[in-house]
Amino acid sequence: MTQDELKQAVARAAADYVASRVAEDAIIGVGTGSTANCFIDALAAMKGRFRGAVASSEATAARLKGHGIPVLDLNDVSTMPVYVDGADEVTPKLHMIKGGGGALTREKIVAAVAETFICIADGSKLVQALGKFPLPVEVIPMARAQVARELAKLGGTPKLREGFLTDNGNIILDVHGLSIADPVDLESRINQVVGVVTNGLFARRGADILLLGTPEGVKTLS
Ligand code: 5RP
Repeated sequence: MTQDELKQAVARAAADYVASRVAEDAIIGVGTGSTANCFIDALAAMKGRFRGAVASSEATAARLKGHGIPVLDLNDVSTMPVYVDGADEVTPKLHMIKGGGGALTREKIVAAVAETFICIADGSKLVQALGKFPLPVEVIPMARAQVARELAKLGGTPKLREGFLTDNGNIILDVHGLSIADPVDLESRINQVVGVVTNGLFARRGADILLLGTPEGVKTLS
């Protein structure tokens, strides 16, 4: 199977979860990226089986609307049974690095409201330790140099994502070479740096379920 076929398989599995486990008036949280796009396309086939969606990025909102799926403002939603999103890296403990697409802050906010976080990923994303994928950190633009100095003190090499602004109007520093022995601790420490909006470690609130696409089929880890 190609990587794209594996993404489509996990997206269908997540849509099946929604169809079988979620109330008919539910609002679904939807992530960002190529795997999340496959999920959106799978959701479109069951439009009407749920009330609508909250998007984690402008790109996701546009794709949902393109399928005629109602997109709600998160401030109008108090409960959300499930949030479905991809990851750049995920461990067997369901800690993740996210933000390759730059949507990490809104992803973390929408995920915080959801009861269950379902990570959908092809097998290449499963790692034993996080950090080979550079860690994205969203930063207020005027704090770029100061935050870069602080990230370097943590052992990483921050690189500005050139020509990119987040949906929130901020920059991304991609931090290379971090040794991430304790993702929960590092997530908190980076978030303490003044000028950081959030970082792409999803460990304090990791995924609850991982649907992993493998040539042998979709495996479920929880
Ligand atoms: C976007 C993300 C994505 O979930 C992550 O980058 C994975 O993307 P893809 O499914 O395209 O590999 O965090 O900010």
